[in-house]
Amino acid sequence: MGKFIIEGGHRLSGRVKVQGAKNAALPVLAATVMSRGEMTLFNCPEIRDVHNMLSILRELGVESYYDGDALKISGRNARSSPMPQRLSKELRSSIFMLGPLLSRFGEAVCAYPGGCEIGHRPVDLHLKGLAALGADIREERGYIICDGHNMHGGEIHLDYPSVGATENIMMAAAAVPGDTVITNSAREPEIEELQNFLNSIGGDIRGAGTSTIYIKGGMEEVPAAAHRIMPDRIAAGTLMCAVAMAGGEAELTDVCPEHIGSLISKLREAGCHISCGRDTLEIRAKGRPKEIKLIETLPYPGFPTDMQAQIFALCTVADGTSVIVENLFENRFRHCAELIKMGANITQKDRTAIVRGVEKLSGAVVYAKDLRGGAALTIAGLGAEGMTAVENTEYIDRGYQRLDETLNSLGACIKREDGTQ
Ligand code: EPZ
Repeated sequence: MGKFIIEGGHRLSGRVKVQGAKNAALPVLAATVMSRGEMTLFNCPEIRDVHNMLSILRELGVESYYDGDALKISGRNARSSPMPQRLSKELRSSIFMLGPLLSRFGEAVCAYPGGCEIGHRPVDLHLKGLAALGADIREERGYIICDGHNMHGGEIHLDYPSVGATENIMMAAAAVPGDTVITNSAREPEIEELQNFLNSIGGDIRGAGTSTIYIKGGMEEVPAAAHRIMPDRIAAGTLMCAVAMAGGEAELTDVCPEHIGSLISKLREAGCHISCGRDTLEIRAKGRPKEIKLIETLPYPGFPTDMQAQIFALCTVADGTSVIVENLFENRFRHCAELIKMGANITQKDRTAIVRGVEKLSGAVVYAKDLRGGAALTIAGLGAEGMTAVENTEYIDRGYQRLDETLNSLGACIKREDGTQ
């Protein structure tokens, strides 16, 4: 397993482009199964999760190659063979291959994605939604087997605004005959991105970004499109927390400030100066962060669960006490024990953590246990006294495109040591 060796105490300054959004790219890649033409995706992040999704698609006959920074992808020879269990275990997002495969072939088989580092991750809302569209679903020996030859439009109310379930149902409903309405749908910006992509290959969907999405079925495929993946709002927020921790100033380009309003508000509470352009953002931070009293993760547009660990790291050195509540996932505080090794003062019970800010963290050997927790430990290392080793950087590489290099370009001092060395 790889590690980051971080020398703390370096201010950050400079300009950096924010990577393409992991959580937009993955559903868009899944949707490429629905088109027989060649598509071009720009700004697709070069990260492990995308690499794994391309491997799953390759096993389903979807060809892809990079042409410079454009990803060319063709579903011409796609087939609905069972997804490889190895890959669908490694990549939870394989569950939203069900919708596209049902949409194109009327059948789909996917290994149960199972839980992951941050929680059990059930898929009941996905399956309930697909069943409401007429899919016949069996669960056998760890596989989900779907027959969608009699699928039709329908009205689906999601018990919870699940991002993945909303995306799966959108993709399934786009091609089956009949219209579909999803109520209590997720409102994340990545849903709107998927709507735009599906409409560019012949779909007729509207309402994404609100709690009600209207899908006209019977999609007539149009020649494939070129699509640019939106900026990654979580990667942007991660860089902002890094500047807030290390001190300094940075200009982020290719960012959507309107997608990170809740984070901007919390970092201003911590004393950061943040100014926003149309697709740029400047952040300046000086001295010890001020107290952020309460952080509660909620579905969009509430504070994003994917930013909880990163701002948590900042709170450990703030001038005051913070209460952090993680409402979405039952096991998303695994960075606490590691931050305590660095001298943080944390009391955690179930989904609530009380963080009493200390002057400084001290460098230590710490272990990433999941993607965003790994980013949080990297941020902690930037501000810590001395050297910090963050182990298991494979987790970080799942969602961040060379996070070490990006931070070093702003003045950090991070040395990557691959596990192979
Ligand atoms: C997406 O996961 C993101 N992943 C996650 O980002 C993100 O944390 C999450 O949305 C919430 O914003 C991708 O987009 C690839 P959910 P997803 O379905 O779709 C429960 C990261 O770090 N639920 O909205 O799996 C579930 O247990 C990753 O980039 C059910 O109960 O999230 C959770 O409590 C981590 N039944 C809540 O809903 C279901 O069928 C939110 O899950 C589905 C979900």
